[in-house]
Amino acid sequence: MKKQMNAYEITCDGGIETLRSNQREIPSLTPNSVLVKIRANSINYRDLMTIKDPVSRAITFPRIPNSDGSGEVIAVGENVSEFKTGDRVVGAFFESWESGNITQGAMTSARGGAAEGLLCEYAVSPECGLVLVPDHLSFMEASTLPCAGVTAWHALVEKGCVKAGDTVLIIGTGGVSLFALQFAILHGAKVILVSSSDEKIRSAKKLGAWEGINYSQTKDWHNAVCELTAGGVDHVVETGGPGTLPQSIEATRLGGHIWLIGVLTQGQMDPINIMRKSIHVQGIYVGHRSMFKSMNSAIAANKLHPVIFESFGYAMAKQAYLLMESATHFGKIVIDM
Ligand SMILES: NC(=O)c1ccc[n+]([C@@H]2O[C@H](COP(=O)([O-])OP(=O)(O)OC[C@H]3O[C@@H](n4cnc5c(N)ncnc54)[C@H](OP(=O)(O)O)[C@@H]3O)[C@@H](O)[C@H]2O)c1
Repeated sequence: MKKQMNAYEITCDGGIETLRSNQREIPSLTPNSVLVKIRANSINYRDLMTIKDPVSRAITFPRIPNSDGSGEVIAVGENVSEFKTGDRVVGAFFESWESGNITQGAMTSARGGAAEGLLCEYAVSPECGLVLVPDHLSFMEASTLPCAGVTAWHALVEKGCVKAGDTVLIIGTGGVSLFALQFAILHGAKVILVSSSDEKIRSAKKLGAWEGINYSQTKDWHNAVCELTAGGVDHVVETGGPGTLPQSIEATRLGGHIWLIGVLTQGQMDPINIMRKSIHVQGIYVGHRSMFKSMNSAIAANKLHPVIFESFGYAMAKQAYLLMESATHFGKIVIDM
């Protein structure tokens, strides 16, 4: 087998333009690890931010970017029992967070951040850093699951116990938001989605969204949400951050839930209505491997397909980040290795 592989590397804080594909040693297999030939990656807003601002994220150079990759097992260590050569696998966002509460150790195993990412030809992983790909999904579809999929599942299903008849407010039409839309619908909930674009709202309605509000045209969108729901939604999947949180609080019913996920916007917020409305606010940081397996069972049982907007070849990876930066996408952007 060859000794060297191609791997993109973040080597400085120069942004997308300075991202380079370099030659690296293929990592060595150990008795407890699995060697995977990477077949696809998907990118997340977090990966874009890591490339644009690695210094404030304390990234060690050179660092392979991207948390999300899928591929084929080509060798297993002698102590590995869960996987075999030929298995189709996808990496978990955290290389080592099997279950339970998040720990400092799990946080330092975040791929494409504190730990090496997967925008490379080969990777070794401990067993607890991988799950099997549902049979009906392609490698590209599977690569969309680890960050955006698991985050949405963690919020709405694991923590939120979303159920038929619940109302869910979703902000934007990126990766996390469209998985949240699909999982909410899967559980019989009604989704209101706010977006910058009428065209994206039309596409979200085709996927089953109940209502859509263009936040560029309707600045007071929280009032529209309250009118639609007679006082506010049960759940908000808060991908917007400080700039959208004040309106999300207004759009939540008394005793409702806000799942705090994103940091797309800047702003100031006054927490007083969280107290007055007895709103439950919970921070979500992706999720553990056990949740990933549960999510995959639901995806397999319902033959659900992730929404892929566009794919790029390995050599065109920079174009994928530029597209994400433009925020014109609807769903996931993937890299076909
Ligand atoms: N906590 C976690 O574990 C976790 C996990 C994954 C992601 N995140 C965070 O969640 C956010 C979304 O991530 P992603 O990967 O899904 O991003 P993404 O695919 O890039 O989607 C971003 C979408 O958000 C919408 N948006 C952009 N600016 C907005 C604004 N000012 N107000 C409202 N919506 C806006 C846009 O959709 P429209 O054009 O339709 O408005 C945009 O396409 C990011 O902040 C990311 O860091 C956190």
